[in-house]
Amino acid sequence: MNEKNKQVTWGGRFKGNPSELMLEIGESVSFDHRLALYDIEGSRAHASMLKHVGILTQEELEALHQGLDQIAETIQSGTFKWDKSLEDVHMNIEQALTQLVPAASKLHTARSRNDQVATDMRLWFKDACVSLVSELESVIKGLVECAESNATVVIPGYTHLQRAQPVPFAHHLLAYVEMFMRDIDRFASVWDASNICPLGSGAIAGTTLPIDRLFAAEALGFVDDEGNPIVTQNSMDAVSDRDLFFDFANACATSGVHLSRMAEDFILWNSSEFGFVQLPDAFTTGSSLMPQKKNPDAFELIRGKSARMIGNAQTLFTLVKGLPLTYNRDLQEDKLPVFDSFDQLMLSLQVTAATLSGIELNKARCLEAVSDPLLLATDIVDYLVKKGVAFRDAHHLVGSLVQLSEELELPLDQLPFEKVKALDKSFDEDWVSVFSIDKALAERSGVGMPSPDQIKKRIGLLKELLDEKA
Ligand code: ARG
Repeated sequence: MNEKNKQVTWGGRFKGNPSELMLEIGESVSFDHRLALYDIEGSRAHASMLKHVGILTQEELEALHQGLDQIAETIQSGTFKWDKSLEDVHMNIEQALTQLVPAASKLHTARSRNDQVATDMRLWFKDACVSLVSELESVIKGLVECAESNATVVIPGYTHLQRAQPVPFAHHLLAYVEMFMRDIDRFASVWDASNICPLGSGAIAGTTLPIDRLFAAEALGFVDDEGNPIVTQNSMDAVSDRDLFFDFANACATSGVHLSRMAEDFILWNSSEFGFVQLPDAFTTGSSLMPQKKNPDAFELIRGKSARMIGNAQTLFTLVKGLPLTYNRDLQEDKLPVFDSFDQLMLSLQVTAATLSGIELNKARCLEAVSDPLLLATDIVDYLVKKGVAFRDAHHLVGSLVQLSEELELPLDQLPFEKVKALDKSFDEDWVSVFSIDKALAERSGVGMPSPDQIKKRIGLLKELLDEKA
């Protein structure tokens, strides 16, 4: 190769080579190489389309397909030699193909790296969403199993990190299931939005050549439920649109925040102060100094990684916000944040599912914490309301009852009946029946409430859903 024309892909117009620093700042192959198999899939479909419209011969198409398959094999076996001076994954593959097949010089007909990378990323997003949904399902399964095997354990639920009302441990875990189900919906809608083919948009304004966009879209699986191909409708939008990057990164950030909040609950429950759960040895670490320590590092790291995912979403918005249409090289930086969000979320989900399977409950500590009669103060209000007392008055009365228990230094459920009756005549001897957690939960039998029946129903439905997907 002529030294002057080292950069053969676009070198024709140039007298000299780019400086080493230009190569350094310009290369993306160090991270976009992970698009390689999607790029090859895109090139296979593009070549088929070129043959279909008569731009390539059958022989040329076969040679190109064989060459691309051969390159895919070397990439999969790890022997492909990536060259940073060729900038990106697209040029690396094109150059390798040129060494194998003379017709490689025709492959880029009616195509630009701008519509090529947009296509690669849409294919990548579709697979990434499928992988994340499957991992979210594993976490949901882990939560449902943990909820079911600890169905009788009740813990205090908290607001303001103050004990509020008793809730089955299962109800708390199933709250996270609801969040992860919404995450699945979010990734499903990113998948739908990815399922539109930008190929044929060229650099910015399509092509004068007689291409068949629908043919290529269909070959790449960008089709609706009836198998009809779906293609983008504006070539300028298609090469500069990065909405999917925002949506994907936002979906990852939201899911990361859900994982982070769950991690925080487990970190608290695992502390000596709470002592409700014990995390498995496999997902905790010791201290280099303090021999007694068993730290919840896995959950702490999951909490930390959510910050990274939030940052990645922010990076993408900032990257794109001031760009004029259409493609600007800044957009090359769009891949790192989405790859990172995918990697961090995938890992966080895998670690969460594995940790959940090793969690043990300290039932005695849960019982001790939930036995505080103050947790049922609201139920006394309901008791009075059922006797005809107005809610605000009932609330005030029970407040006085709590004050009385503090004054007499007696637990709420052991106050002498005469003193209680003296507060309000609506109290009858049966008022102490309120202090039954089983009763308190059984009576919360409306949809979405924590009665054992409702929880059983929800678990049954979730298991059916998971079985359907399996
Ligand atoms: N590596 C480039 C990117 O990811 C591919 C598109 C290059 N297009 C261009 N006009 N230089 O953004």
